[in-house]
Amino acid sequence: MATILGIETSCDETSASVLSGTGDDVSLQSLVILSQDVHKVFGGVVPEIASRAHLTSIVPVVSRSLDDAGVKLEALDAIAVTSAPGLIGALLVGVCYAKSLAFARGIPVIGVHHMEGHLFATSLEHRDAIPPFTALLVSGGHTLLLDVEEWGRYRLLGATRDDAAGEAFDKVAKLLGLPYPGGRPVEMLARGGDPSRFRFSRPMVRGNDTPDDRSYYEFSFSGLKTGVLNAVRASDDLERDKADIARGFQDALVGALVDKTARAATAFGRTRVVLGGGVACNSALYSAMSERAASFGATVFAPKPRLATDNAGMIARAGLFHFERGERSGLDLNAFASQPIPGLVAA
Ligand code: KG4
Ligand code: ZN
Repeated sequence: MATILGIETSCDETSASVLSGTGDDVSLQSLVILSQDVHKVFGGVVPEIASRAHLTSIVPVVSRSLDDAGVKLEALDAIAVTSAPGLIGALLVGVCYAKSLAFARGIPVIGVHHMEGHLFATSLEHRDAIPPFTALLVSGGHTLLLDVEEWGRYRLLGATRDDAAGEAFDKVAKLLGLPYPGGRPVEMLARGGDPSRFRFSRPMVRGNDTPDDRSYYEFSFSGLKTGVLNAVRASDDLERDKADIARGFQDALVGALVDKTARAATAFGRTRVVLGGGVACNSALYSAMSERAASFGATVFAPKPRLATDNAGMIARAGLFHFERGERSGLDLNAFASQPIPGLVAA
């Protein structure tokens, strides 16, 4: 059994977590997430401000997570830290801090890929959300469809050609005059919307697509965003129309996510679908995905919001996996703004 401290600072959440266990038999001892609300006034994350805010909060966030877990520094076996992808200055705060602490304690540091963390997140609360499964990771920065044969072996089937799913929610929120981040406000507004008034086509979904087409598993949301922009411009009463537009947008986006995920799950014969990333908080996505999955005998697992959005629990869990495989990063660990997920196999 190992006890791991996880640290996440890739974007606008300063987070630390203590996790202990073996293999998939793990328990989260603590999870502290400090969200940087300061970015709200700018309508998006300002990288330099994010780095500075991580600097001021990293020490209290880590101390608090150790206190909450009742774990002393001496009891840690390793420190796992997000080293890619993300905002470089933000990542560097976590990486430098983790390396210093690991060096001072004489324990290993393990660099974790943020998106591999998201793959592990759901398993922290659903014991059956373990491989093999089809994964849909939908966040503000990424939209990835993967087949996960086993931990550490990932087949990347498709990604977005332009905007990420969460980014599309955020941009549409802006067009509709809603606050940032826009995912939840758009979802709330769409609940009261009429689904028949604005019908946007599901992007990149054609009934006659075959697995040989490159677009079969790919996503694209910028055209849908333009569709929303045109609807907003054409409206003579946006207050009257905005819930219906939000509904039409969400239905089209969710429809595309569900269609492509169902294609992947059936092609690989998977009976589990795991959702991750901030957009996995969207209950319309979860319901539509569950309904479709039931039609081919699969179960959908979605994490609760605090594990769906950026958190250090998932980083500690992915770190434990690499720790148990004997992998260590060394003190020359660096941060990278972009990097492929480790363990990718050819699609
Ligand atoms: O995973 P995450 O916390 O951060 C990134 O790594 O990007 O995801 C944040 C994204 C934002 O774009 C936000 O608008 C979106 O997740 N989001 C949602 C919902 N809650 C958060 N999108 C749709 N519906 C939601 N309920
Ligand atoms: Zn994320």
